[in-house]
Amino acid sequence: MKKNILVVYYTQSGQLKAIADSILQPFRDCNVVFHEIKMEEEFPFPWTGDSFFNSFPDSFQQRPQRLKPVPAEILEGNYDLVLFHYQVWFLSPSIPVTSFLKSADGQKLLSGRPVVTVSGTRNMWILAQEKVKKLLKEAGAHLVGNVALVDRAANLVSVVTIVDWLFSGVKRKYLGIFPMPGVSEEDIRGAERFGRIIRDHLEAGSLGSLQPELAANGAVPISSFLLSVDQKGNAIFKKWVQIIDKRPAQRKFLLKLFNIYVVLALYVVSPIVFVFHNLTYPFWRKSFLREREYFQSV
Ligand SMILES: Cc1cc2nc3c(=O)[nH]c(=O)nc-3n(C[C@H](O)[C@H](O)[C@H](O)COP(=O)(O)O)c2cc1C
Repeated sequence: MKKNILVVYYTQSGQLKAIADSILQPFRDCNVVFHEIKMEEEFPFPWTGDSFFNSFPDSFQQRPQRLKPVPAEILEGNYDLVLFHYQVWFLSPSIPVTSFLKSADGQKLLSGRPVVTVSGTRNMWILAQEKVKKLLKEAGAHLVGNVALVDRAANLVSVVTIVDWLFSGVKRKYLGIFPMPGVSEEDIRGAERFGRIIRDHLEAGSLGSLQPELAANGAVPISSFLLSVDQKGNAIFKKWVQIIDKRPAQRKFLLKLFNIYVVLALYVVSPIVFVFHNLTYPFWRKSFLREREYFQSV
């Protein structure tokens, strides 16, 4: 019997759709249904500075916004597996993705079904995945696998290139000297191998043992430095969002301050933290290895 696959995704640039298409290559013999998450009020692409930082409080607080309804024929379908593609905004699932996970339509599609999450991010996805795990659980879904595709350029290089990409809307080599932004073409094409692993486990009825094989094949790369920045960033963003939410009259000004803070944190503080992190790494290597095992699992 042909398996029925539901592919849920949101994408502004098309990157996550390209990733989904690559992962789906081995599913040629299955019935595949796509659902693209659509906002009632779309976010801009390319972004402006104001719109970008204005999305920070709702992204981080995971406040949903209104979505276009899921078409009835998709909502009524019967699915053996859901491939759930998402991106991270401000260390949290993007607003469209949060909105879907919290919506009645989204919960109807996910409830009782096995789900594989697939993220396409700059490089900071680990704690966002924890938030997605929680929302999937609340929706009654069974998370069976996770694939995290990232930009593999150095952290600060990827910041420069993604800013050019998101604020111009054009995927290009910034100034002709920087690498291409986002997940590399090679990694997007290579994601087909994760699709094969997922398909084999689906056909064998062994989705329960999918994630260890995905992890062993490089589906969830975890850097100790990026994990520690993600953890510290979440604690600091929480404080910022509390300050911003408490003072709606000063929101614009506070978002400007937040913008300046982010630039300074990235380009002044993070290189210092990076050096300190590497010098002290031997002291907490063991605890990192334990954490890595946890974050690579579902
Ligand atoms: C508002 C905003 C915030 C973002 N924050 C993060 C982040 O915290 N961590 C990260 O790895 N990527 C971040 N990204 C990059 C996205 O996760 C994603 O890779 C990129 O926007 C391309 O996704 P697309 O398929 O929607 O075009 C952010 C992007 C946007 C637009």
